[in-house]
Amino acid sequence: MPPILAAEHVSKTFQVGRDEPLLAVRNLSLQVEEGEFVCLLGASGCGKTTVLNMFAGFTQPTQGRVLLRDRPITGIEPRCGVVFQSYALFHWKTVQGNVEFGLRMQGVARAERRRRAAHFIELVKLGGFERRYPAELSGGMQQRVTLARILAADPEVLLMDEPFAALDAMTRQVMQEELLRIQESSGKTVLFITHSIDEALILADRIVVMSALPGQVKAILPNRLPRPRHVSVQLSAEYARLKAEVWKEVGFEVRPADALPRSPDRR
Ligand SMILES: Nc1ncnc2c1ncn2[C@@H]1O[C@H](COP(=O)(O)OP(=O)(O)OP(=O)(O)O)[C@@H](O)[C@H]1O
Ligand SMILES: [Mg+2]
Repeated sequence: MPPILAAEHVSKTFQVGRDEPLLAVRNLSLQVEEGEFVCLLGASGCGKTTVLNMFAGFTQPTQGRVLLRDRPITGIEPRCGVVFQSYALFHWKTVQGNVEFGLRMQGVARAERRRRAAHFIELVKLGGFERRYPAELSGGMQQRVTLARILAADPEVLLMDEPFAALDAMTRQVMQEELLRIQESSGKTVLFITHSIDEALILADRIVVMSALPGQVKAILPNRLPRPRHVSVQLSAEYARLKAEVWKEVGFEVRPADALPRSPDRR
């Protein structure tokens, strides 16, 4: 079986106006197997979102190719559900309306839409909030609505770009455990971007460490922590050992420039 996702010697150059072309990703190769949870870990600005955008088909590589089940991804790929850092909910639609949205686009009949939306709203533990609007929910709840909406559309792959970065530490832990539980029960393939080593160690079966700009694969580390993982695993000696291993790879890549504020147009 071919890997579900693959990047083959992918490079991406951005040309903005007359500026020097910017090489954001250089010769990156990566394979994700079906049902695997892979975290792409790297410092701010190293090209993580650019990689995700290529898998989602939002942008094309300058060199090399990205593949979904051996087929080149050349345009927006409906089999990949994308979760962004910001919640991207429709503020004029209720929880129910938001979760049903993708299904409506797919032409799913009303009764079936209701049934599937109800299932995923329960799954993310938002039963009882169906008629609420996003503005009436906390950040963590809004992110769970986003998750329910993506899952309801039943994509083959979830591409997640720092989806929990804006959440407080406690809500983030709850969301991480929930995502693990959902991923385990659904068997979905997940490619998850983060710049948190702790997040990668909780979530990933494999951690792909990216180098600083231009982004390349610097190391691939299998996560030896057994499933089902729970945040309490952070107290174990094995966790500390693994964290040190990952830190050794990531540490050298963190440049002082990372302390600069994020530009508002960052995706
Ligand atoms: N559309 C674009 N046009 C021009 N340059 C871009 C574009 N998108 C990204 N870049 C540049 O490519 C580089 C990598 O950006 P990218 O958003 O992929 O980084 P990142 O690893 O996701 O960072 P962060 O962790 O801060 O989200 C940056 O220098 C960025 O300025
Ligand atoms: Mg990014």
